Amino acid sequence: MPFLLLALLFAVFSPSPPAQALPALEKASVEASVDALLARMTLTEKIGQLNFPSLAFPPDEQLEQVRKGRIGAMLNVANRKHIDAFSEAARSSRLGIPLLFGIDAVYSFRTTFPPPIAWAATWRPKLAEAATEAIARETSAIGVNLTFAPMIDVSRDPRWGRVIEGAGEDAFLGAAFAAARVRGYRKGGLATAAKHFVGYGAPEGGRDYNGAQISVSELHDRYLPPFKAAIDAGTDTVMASFNTVNGVPVTANRPLINDLLKNAIGFRGIVMSDFAAISELINHGVAADLAEAARKAILAGIDLDMEGKAYDKNLEAEVAAGRVPVSAVDEAVRRILRVKFNLGLFDKSREPALAEIDEASVRKTAREVARESFVLLKNDAAALPIGTDTRAIALIGSAALSVNDHSWYGPAGYQKPETETLLAALRKRMKPGQQLRYAKGFADDCGRAFGDKDDALAAARRADLVILAVSEDCDVSGEGASRTDLGLSGAQQEMLEALVETGRPVALVVETGRPLTLGYAEKNAVAILIAWHPGTEGRTALAEVLTGEIAPSGKLPMTFPRSVGQIPIAYNPLPTSRPSTGNRYTTGYLDEDVTPLYPFGHGLSYTSFSYSNLAVSSPRMTPDASIEASVTLENTGTRAGSEVVQLYTRQLVASHSRPMRELKGFEKVSLAAGEKKTVRFRLAASDLAFHDDHGRAVVEPGPFKLFVGGSSTADLSAPFEITAK
Ligand code: NOJ
Repeated sequence: MPFLLLALLFAVFSPSPPAQALPALEKASVEASVDALLARMTLTEKIGQLNFPSLAFPPDEQLEQVRKGRIGAMLNVANRKHIDAFSEAARSSRLGIPLLFGIDAVYSFRTTFPPPIAWAATWRPKLAEAATEAIARETSAIGVNLTFAPMIDVSRDPRWGRVIEGAGEDAFLGAAFAAARVRGYRKGGLATAAKHFVGYGAPEGGRDYNGAQISVSELHDRYLPPFKAAIDAGTDTVMASFNTVNGVPVTANRPLINDLLKNAIGFRGIVMSDFAAISELINHGVAADLAEAARKAILAGIDLDMEGKAYDKNLEAEVAAGRVPVSAVDEAVRRILRVKFNLGLFDKSREPALAEIDEASVRKTAREVARESFVLLKNDAAALPIGTDTRAIALIGSAALSVNDHSWYGPAGYQKPETETLLAALRKRMKPGQQLRYAKGFADDCGRAFGDKDDALAAARRADLVILAVSEDCDVSGEGASRTDLGLSGAQQEMLEALVETGRPVALVVETGRPLTLGYAEKNAVAILIAWHPGTEGRTALAEVLTGEIAPSGKLPMTFPRSVGQIPIAYNPLPTSRPSTGNRYTTGYLDEDVTPLYPFGHGLSYTSFSYSNLAVSSPRMTPDASIEASVTLENTGTRAGSEVVQLYTRQLVASHSRPMRELKGFEKVSLAAGEKKTVRFRLAASDLAFHDDHGRAVVEPGPFKLFVGGSSTADLSAPFEITAK
């Protein structure tokens, strides 16, 4: 990062107060304990605290290293036996400092929840809090004390497979879910790692691990808000990202880690590297060898070396040679000890065993999250739910037989919980006189190749409604899962087309971890339901929604593009000099529409809603004031349902072009048929601040418009103004 930018980052932040909200007394005693322990440590023991390897087999040598105080944290130890052995080794080391045990308990442990992109689709942060609390209870029950979560990278490129782990494309929604997830994991007994700081969700070309180019104002407006929210919610650790930002790897980026995250934002917990990221500084071409990589990382502010072995092998010599001051090592150790004391690891009693955690209540939460996360993208002539008068239903697709729950990590040696298939769950719900015919249609669980296609077509021809259940399955979402084609994979598109050609109405159910390009389905299917990867309870929830026991209420946290060529596409671009009119010399494409297939915030219910009486409490406010916006929401349909009321703003005139829309408020509301409710949002002028090219937050007086409705294309609007003081 250029020196000028470094200077600017320094200049722009008046340091905020430390984020960890410990009561003063407790804080003082933690700090005193940290100081006292640090004073007793040798340099070898200090460097040991910074060493974070993954479990090796056989573990004997590592156990010996722990006894010598040369390991401070371990990753991927997922069974009680090993955790107990390593904890005992740590207790018998000279200073008895306990270990951190970290794993990726992101959205699953024993029970698999839908993934975080689905949590965001519920638009209910409280549900994400309940989900993470439950996951943390299951995980901490085997002695793990740290999860590598939440992943809170704002991501606007569905080619990037890791969009599944985050809350999608928006900073405001992302911040709400980041805070909720930190709160939940911590309530459930785990320390958290807010990751990946920063810009990992903006890789060029959507290619995992690729570099990101991010301007100062974008960094502050778009990528930092979830991290600030996670820090305010008390995240214990932050994980630095693999990627470069503007040419400098974050792992060696002092302006971003030390100066911005630690000094300016005031984060006082641990900053850890990602897996082997310190050693990979050599691949980045910013370090000639492991010693230089270690030096650059510690001086940048990376406290904990995950799997890089760089600190373990090199820091002692670097300190001896005077290239790394011992104060830099002390500062890193201080942060690690602080987290260990705050977590109570020095006097921790044993947690309840996994078998003692009430599986039924965890599954109940998983079911609720799944139910609320499904997004009904289209539903011509109320094709869904399956009507009681629909006699013959054909269910096609291997996804309907799948119990693949897309989990990340599970407890070693533990039986996976029973998962109902969609076929079984739907069968149970058929009414007298209804007939459900099933055909797998594909040769494999991933829908890569046809099985008995004719059987599927024969079932379809006899049906009043065809449901095709497909899945973006088998490892095509998640880390290292970038794609250039976002269509239905394998033979699934061809099957969809063949079913449509039968002339029977086809409803498409898609399990996916990311937005897909579903243009053909939009034109030809009667309904499209996005089920994400719904997890242990997911197929049961799906049957509940398909049969109408539950109405869908999810809304998209990420734009669905028409084609990959439109990417990056999000709901909040800046205006252009030539707004699109269809005329060639206005912004757009010659071969594609400029609008997305489905916009951010979109999602239908089985009922309908109307918005009216939008009002603002005052048409003007000063930069230190706030106004209230209110709107009447009415359920105008014939059944109960929930709607996510969304508030967007646009600053019409400012020193910089401002986004066409910015999400500033949302509330999920449940209404009985015919019921009305007034929904109110408080909007402070400070909520409308943006960051200038120096990273300074500014509230600029000027005219604004606010929009309220059920998606980012809401057209009910009201003007207001921020006036000078
Ligand atoms: C690499 C991933 O980027 C990170 O998110 C994960 O926590 C670590 N591996 C550890 O598994």
